[in-house]
Amino acid sequence: MTLDASSPAAAAASIARDLRQVVEHRGHATLALAGGRTPGPVYDHLAAEDVPWSEVTAVMGDERDVDEGHERSNLGMARRHLGHLPMAWLDLRHEAPERVDVAVLGWGTDGHTASWFPDLHDEDLQHLFSSTHVRERVAPPSQPEARWTLTPEAILAAEHVHLIGSGAEKATVLDTVRIEADARTHPVHLVLTGASALDVWWWP
Ligand code: 6PG
Repeated sequence: MTLDASSPAAAAASIARDLRQVVEHRGHATLALAGGRTPGPVYDHLAAEDVPWSEVTAVMGDERDVDEGHERSNLGMARRHLGHLPMAWLDLRHEAPERVDVAVLGWGTDGHTASWFPDLHDEDLQHLFSSTHVRERVAPPSQPEARWTLTPEAILAAEHVHLIGSGAEKATVLDTVRIEADARTHPVHLVLTGASALDVWWWP
């Protein structure tokens, strides 16, 4: 599979379209946001889109267990790009949304998405994959701190899922995931196969 080159602006326009649609049908939308380094430009374009932000609640799809002011805080990063908008925020460290309507996720070169890391111990990964909760706490050995993460249950129930990634390595990983087809070694596979409406946005 070759990923067509897209852009942060195209991803943002599509996310905005989904948010408008959900708010129109439900009166409110819960938006799960990716952390890490990739989303910044997407969020800057998203902030300029025409969205009824006062009807949107944002929550991180996963959060490192650090305070918002810490340099590794995903919530801190997202609010630097979107915090000026009139939407409500939930802090995943302290509370879980009832549902997720639109989810924006990144993926790692190890095949993780959210904090579904393949180096989690077997029983922890199985607990995560089978959880009926919206939020779980995990401690991936590869990560410097424990994390809170939305579960596959919560993410795969979303009306729209957007995967965003950039760079050649991320494209190669997605090719591998499509071939290897094993959620245990590449958890992002769950999203590629289980999301009801999925858009993948990749740019060089
Ligand atoms: C996190 C993220 C994580 C991220 C991927 C990609 O807490 O790190 O939520 O799931 O989306 O690790 O991160 P980059 O965008 O920095 O490559």
